[in-house]
Amino acid sequence: MKNIYRPIPVELIKVEEHSHDTKLFRMKRSDGKPFSTNKDGLCFIPGQFVLAGLWGYGEAPFGAASEPSEDAYMDIIVRHTGGQVTTAMHRLKRGDHLTLRGPLGNGFPLKFFSTMGDLLLVTGGCGVPPIAALIEHIIRNRADFGRVHLVYGAKTPEDVLLKEDLKRWAKSIDVIIVVEKGSKGWKGERGLVTDCLASVRLDPSNTAVAMCGPGPMIDAIEHIVNPMGITDRRIFISVERRMQCGVGRCQHCVCGDRYACTDGPVFNLDEYDINWD
Ligand SMILES: Cc1cc2nc3c(=O)[nH]c(=O)nc-3n(C[C@H](O)[C@H](O)[C@H](O)COP(=O)(O)OP(=O)(O)OC[C@H]3O[C@@H](n4cnc5c(N)ncnc54)[C@H](O)[C@@H]3O)c2cc1C
Ligand code: FES
Repeated sequence: MKNIYRPIPVELIKVEEHSHDTKLFRMKRSDGKPFSTNKDGLCFIPGQFVLAGLWGYGEAPFGAASEPSEDAYMDIIVRHTGGQVTTAMHRLKRGDHLTLRGPLGNGFPLKFFSTMGDLLLVTGGCGVPPIAALIEHIIRNRADFGRVHLVYGAKTPEDVLLKEDLKRWAKSIDVIIVVEKGSKGWKGERGLVTDCLASVRLDPSNTAVAMCGPGPMIDAIEHIVNPMGITDRRIFISVERRMQCGVGRCQHCVCGDRYACTDGPVFNLDEYDINWD
């Protein structure tokens, strides 16, 4: 019988600092095998998460952030919260080992997105990883998707993650980066992601939205895109809830009558009115 709690050992092949409190960890399986793929050739669906664990410290959920069909490695992006797991993870170096469970949860509806004309991706703070994986998937399968717009908000230019990837993505999709507080030399947008939505040229009658970020940001965007004609049925959000088991057993991640770990973490706003408290 398959043990759903049994992790696989993984080795860090890259640890990269992306901001004062955030690092990217690239992992390969310690047994040298590739990560398993699903029937579509994906190791995970963008929006799914993994539980990374360190013996003696515990496990924590992180969105898988790399290109989903890449089976040689998987990336996660970890913000140091000051808590036990992320503090221990931020001490790790290349060659160190951790454990991995997953991929878990549902992920974004890729087939639905490919039937839509436009796709608006909105992210902020540490919500970038699942959106990064979605963009990598779109770029690899570019002909399957229409126009794609990314609006990415950060507090300052120093907090913008994946800077090199953003330059690469901008060759294939429209990218707007907005910072709340621009430092000297910042030439991009200033303000909140909500301030930039009016400048995004999209066809609301044929647009889907994928979001991952702080709850208040998601609420504010819903109130902007709904009047444009983008209904909740076409808005998908990835939520963060405190989790333990990750597999629908412990009830730690309950949101209303659903579990974020098994029914989500991606929810359609039409099906479920998220309570952010
Ligand atoms: C589905 C999912 C995907 C996630 N993806 C990422 C990711 O890609 N990158 C990333 O850096 N983080 C992500 N998180 C959040 C991450 O799991 C937590 O930051 C981590 O569990 C903290 O562990 P810790 O032991 O260091 O801190 P803890 O001791 O558990 O907590 C430290 C502080 O962080 C807060 N915190 C912990 N978990 C959460 C949470 N889920 N939501 C809000 N606040 C929390 C606590 O309230 C506390 O203030 C994700 C969470 C979920 C549920
Ligand atoms: S984390 Fe245990 S039920 Fe969701």
